[in-house]
Amino acid sequence: MIVVTGSTGNVGAEVVRALAAAGTPVRALTRDASRAEPQQGVEYVSGDLSRPESVRPALDGAHGLFLLPGYPGLPELLADARRAGVERVVLLSGGSAGSGDTGNAISRYMAESERAVRESGIPWTFLRPSAFMSNTFQWIPQLRAGNVVRVPFADVRMAVVDPHDVAAVAARALTDDGHEGRVHQPTGPVALRAADRVRILASVLGRDLRFEAQPDDEARREMLETTPVEYVDAFFDFYVTGTLDESVVRPAVQDVTGRPPRTFEQWARAHAAAFG
Ligand SMILES: NC(=O)c1ccc[n+]([C@@H]2O[C@H](COP(=O)([O-])OP(=O)(O)OC[C@H]3O[C@@H](n4cnc5c(N)ncnc54)[C@H](OP(=O)(O)O)[C@@H]3O)[C@@H](O)[C@H]2O)c1
Repeated sequence: MIVVTGSTGNVGAEVVRALAAAGTPVRALTRDASRAEPQQGVEYVSGDLSRPESVRPALDGAHGLFLLPGYPGLPELLADARRAGVERVVLLSGGSAGSGDTGNAISRYMAESERAVRESGIPWTFLRPSAFMSNTFQWIPQLRAGNVVRVPFADVRMAVVDPHDVAAVAARALTDDGHEGRVHQPTGPVALRAADRVRILASVLGRDLRFEAQPDDEARREMLETTPVEYVDAFFDFYVTGTLDESVVRPAVQDVTGRPPRTFEQWARAHAAAFG
């Protein structure tokens, strides 16, 4: 039995699908299991990662755990997992986790989560993927309003990765031997600028989308409407100061899954309906 946290999210839902397709029993954690769509071989359970005691029943009888980062009660949750007999944890971390920069709120929570997992004594694998292709869903309101897509950090090239591929790597690390103590860095097959992603999405959707670079001050104002200031600062540190380089294409997806990472065009085709 493998417990998957974040099971309704971009990556977690794909981890659930990959494990279930391989015939591995899955317990999928969400804050509200009554809203989950039933799936063959998947048991949905309710639990809140910010209240570890609410997750404890889900860990009963589990031998594997796919874990999201950033929750303050992780040490307690991991102690419960160890007591329950979990012998493998795959942590979804991030590219900056190894930077050692505790002044960056995102790097800090990723690094703290990795430390909690290391200190738990449970054999672990860390995933430090590049930025997700699914971040493109943030453009949906603009696409509903018209054909202009204004995007922050326009000059930054990122080897964006399909959450499907991050999940495929996670599923292998959860079920195959040989991943213990390893850090996998899944990326997409090529580094793209925002303008490239808009052009590819336009071609997939058959729309005349126009890219505009959003000035930093406007991007900052807009991000502050929905995002705590320390995370806005963290993104500016990554992409304006340039402390995080996500342009490097790495072989992790090919090496772990035996097939190449999906392209942004494949991701856009698979999710075209979401932009309708
Ligand atoms: N976006 C990127 O480019 C990127 C890059 C590297 C790493 N990451 C990391 O990857 C993580 C997952 O990303 P994603 O895109 O798959 O996530 P997502 O689509 O935003 O989904 C978030 C998931 O977290 C669950 N969740 C939220 N709060 C919870 C809580 N208190 N207790 C239990 N579950 C909770 C949600 O489940 P319910 O709502 O059903 O409870 C949902 O399944 C991110 O949080 C980030 O730390 C992201």
